[in-house]
Parts: sequence; structure tokens; C-alpha cells
Amino acid sequence: MTSTATRPRGARARAAVAAKTLRTDRWWFAPLITVVGLTAWVAYATVRVYMHNWYWVEDFHYLTPFYSPCVTERCVEGAAHFGRVLPDWWIIPEAAFTLPFLLLFRLTCYYYRKAYYRSFWLSPPACAVPDGHQSYSGETRFPLLGQNLHRYFFYAAVIISLINSWDAVLAFHSPEGFGFGLGNLILIGNVVMLWAYTISCHSCRHIIGGRLKHFSKHPLRYRAWTAVSWLNVRHMQLAWITLGTLALTDFYVMAVAAEWFPDLRFIN
Ligand code: FES
Repeated sequence: MTSTATRPRGARARAAVAAKTLRTDRWWFAPLITVVGLTAWVAYATVRVYMHNWYWVEDFHYLTPFYSPCVTERCVEGAAHFGRVLPDWWIIPEAAFTLPFLLLFRLTCYYYRKAYYRSFWLSPPACAVPDGHQSYSGETRFPLLGQNLHRYFFYAAVIISLINSWDAVLAFHSPEGFGFGLGNLILIGNVVMLWAYTISCHSCRHIIGGRLKHFSKHPLRYRAWTAVSWLNVRHMQLAWITLGTLALTDFYVMAVAAEWFPDLRFIN
């Protein structure tokens, strides 16, 4: 049982119940599936980022988001839209300027925090299930204090979403000029979902509608806030959907670049 010394301030002592939890449903399923899903995604992304290969389809200008923008000396000419400014060291990913910010944006996201606190840290694993740790300090100390930086990573994520959008526009290409294929649909779908996830961010919602005393005096911001709020309640779903679209987009570009199968072309 949690001692008075380690109990969160204001919390009451747990009732004298011998069982660890009285829940009889499958409360463990959500944390378990979260561990499996996040571990699988991180493993896939890490392998892909350090593959240093199959990230660009020259004929159609498809660039995987895991390598965008491509900024190392390894980058092929066409994929390096912002120049090749970093050295060709194995440890440096092609997208070294963006991947750290994307990682920090997701790591400090309100939804992912809940997800990994519950599933990896068991703090607590579910409602009405005891915390897996003796003490609890919330996010009041280093390093978790850094979670407050999320609002700044949001701005970085907006810039990165703009870059991904530009990549998707450049991909309407073929050796004949304009081109359109299944890869374009996948790239565009990914970008739309990335924007939906980014805009549904709690920090974005606060930037749009926070600090206002009277919505009636700010009708445009109220409308924008209403739209963002509609997305915000779907933030968890968007967090998972974008993991899926990112992996799918990367896999498709890899498969076409490696010539495992050809791109399905609709025009040119
Ligand atoms: S709260 Fe999830 S991205 Fe900001």
C-alpha cells in the first residue's frame, strides 16, 4: 500500500482491500497492445533510418518522410532539396535536422505520455489498478519537467509538416513531366493525416483559443478553435493512424525504390 510519505499530495489512503485490483475486465489489454505497437513501430523506423538506402524513387520523385529533408552527403542529387550539409557518417540519419524534433514532438505529446506512462512505466497501468512504483512525483522534476517543452516542438512539427507537404507536391512527376500514381495517393494521404494529427495537438488548441476571455469578440478564432477541438477529441486515433501512414508511406517508397514491385501509374 502507498505510504503517506510517497502518496501524491491531496490523495487519500487506499481502502484496506487485499486484492491488488478489483477490476475483472481485461484492463491489461490496452497497455499490452500499446507496448507491442510502439515497440514494433520504433524498431521498424530505426532499421529504416539506418538502412541509408531505398528512400528515393528517381522516376517519380517519391521521397520517404523518414529521409526528409535529405541533408547528408550520402543523399542522391534529386532528393537533397535543401542541400547536403552534413557529413556522410553512418550514425547521422539523412533527415538529421527533422527526426530529433519529430521524436521529441511525439515523445512529449499528451496522448503518447499517457500511453507510455501506462504501458511501459505502469504508472498506473489502468484506472483503479495500483501504480507499479512506490513513489510518484508527476512531471515536477527533471527529466519529465521537460515535457513542458511540447508547445515549442509543436512549432517544429508544423515546419516539418510543411516540408512533407512540399515533398508530396514535388512527387507529381514522371520522366515525361507531370505524373500521378498510387505513390502520390499514399504520400498525400500521409500528409493529410500528419496535418490532422499536428493540428489536433493540445498546444495548437491552446494557441488558437487559449487566453481569450470572450469568444464572442473573436469569431474567427472561435470557429478555428471549434474545428481544432473536433480534431482534438480524436487525437489518440490520429496518433496511431499517423504511425500507420508513416510506416506505409515509407514501406511503399522503399518497395518501389528497391524494385520489389512497380508503382501503379494512373497518368504517365
Ligand atoms: S498533444 Fe499530442 S501532439 Fe500535441
